[in-house]
Amino acid sequence: MNTADFANLTLFITGPTYLRPEVRQAGLLPEFGHRDKENEKRFCPIFADLKKIAGVGADYELIIFNGSGTNAMEASIRSLVADGETVLNASVGAFGDLYHKLAQVNGKKAVQLKFEPGQTMDLDKLESAMKAHKPAAVSLTHNETSTGVTNDIVGACALVKAHGALPLVDGVSIFGGAPARINESAPAMYVTSTQKALGLPAGFGLAFVSAEALAKAEKVQNRGFTSDILAQLGRAKKHQTLTTPNTTLANQMAVQLDYIVNVEGLEARFKRHAAMRDQVHDWAANQDGFKLFAPSGYRSPTVTSVKVPSGVTQDQLKKLKEVLRGKGYLFDPGYAKLNTALESEGKPLVFRIGHMGDLTPAMLAAYLTDLSAALKHL
Ligand SMILES: Cc1ncc(COP(=O)(O)O)c(C=O)c1O
Repeated sequence: MNTADFANLTLFITGPTYLRPEVRQAGLLPEFGHRDKENEKRFCPIFADLKKIAGVGADYELIIFNGSGTNAMEASIRSLVADGETVLNASVGAFGDLYHKLAQVNGKKAVQLKFEPGQTMDLDKLESAMKAHKPAAVSLTHNETSTGVTNDIVGACALVKAHGALPLVDGVSIFGGAPARINESAPAMYVTSTQKALGLPAGFGLAFVSAEALAKAEKVQNRGFTSDILAQLGRAKKHQTLTTPNTTLANQMAVQLDYIVNVEGLEARFKRHAAMRDQVHDWAANQDGFKLFAPSGYRSPTVTSVKVPSGVTQDQLKKLKEVLRGKGYLFDPGYAKLNTALESEGKPLVFRIGHMGDLTPAMLAAYLTDLSAALKHL
């Protein structure tokens, strides 16, 4: 096979993300047996470093699921919502909708609280929905990737807990790029994955699970097998996965998490993400006719949605993608379903800039310069 034909693009999409050369290189490390002592050499530090990145101690158990973030989200629904109980799914976009869908297809009594795309969660409306539906669990999106909105996850979890429900948090597109705030928000389960701000390939769903959630799961029937947090925990306590893991990814993860925690450092990593977010905001402010989609105060540190001048079509954004491919980048022409809805309503479309993982401000600056030039093609 002629792999020389595989393009080496720098990814400015919202995941998968750019891999540092050292992470690519770690993919060449030896495969190993996942029930052998070699497993411990990789996964013991992986478990410890992930807990450091999450800022949690012994009060949260970490489970590493094979699959991706969605598998861990589905496990939270299967393990923590009993038949006959209501799960309320708060959605500010496509990934909030995904949590609702997971609840529905698993036969749960699901109610959705939906907000306008581009808006943040309104906690007064969340409180009214809590009173009206009395859910046992509530799914929340920490960072909505389709719109670039970061919700007030601490406020939302406090509200959900005040009404006696379990908060289930999707932190897929923010974990590793900003504080997860698990200690402050105390969710029952906080879920993320490897291929976003951690700067790794996809392949694992990661879940931080509270003691309260584990006690609840004991009372839930039909938790499935790979979606059962109690079955998963049996292996996680030994720093293992329940089923055979991708050992190539495990090698890369051991190397990359050590880099994040011990070389770059968490504070520096979070600062770099905040700086790249500000860099994109400053750039957008200088583009005539372009505006930020998310409201001030709720703009994501990992992904920015930019509203284009009215009249710009999805086809034009797709052409822009090809212009940028010619420059060595993968451009994100916006979340397709959202742009289709915006287009049908005659509203301006959005494109997205993923600025997460191991992209640097210098790489972003070069990209923004080329993007400005490409925008002149619109
Ligand atoms: C906020 C959010 N939640 C969930 C998912 C689904 O995660 P995965 O693709 O890891 O299953 C994504 C993926 O983009 C996401 O951005």
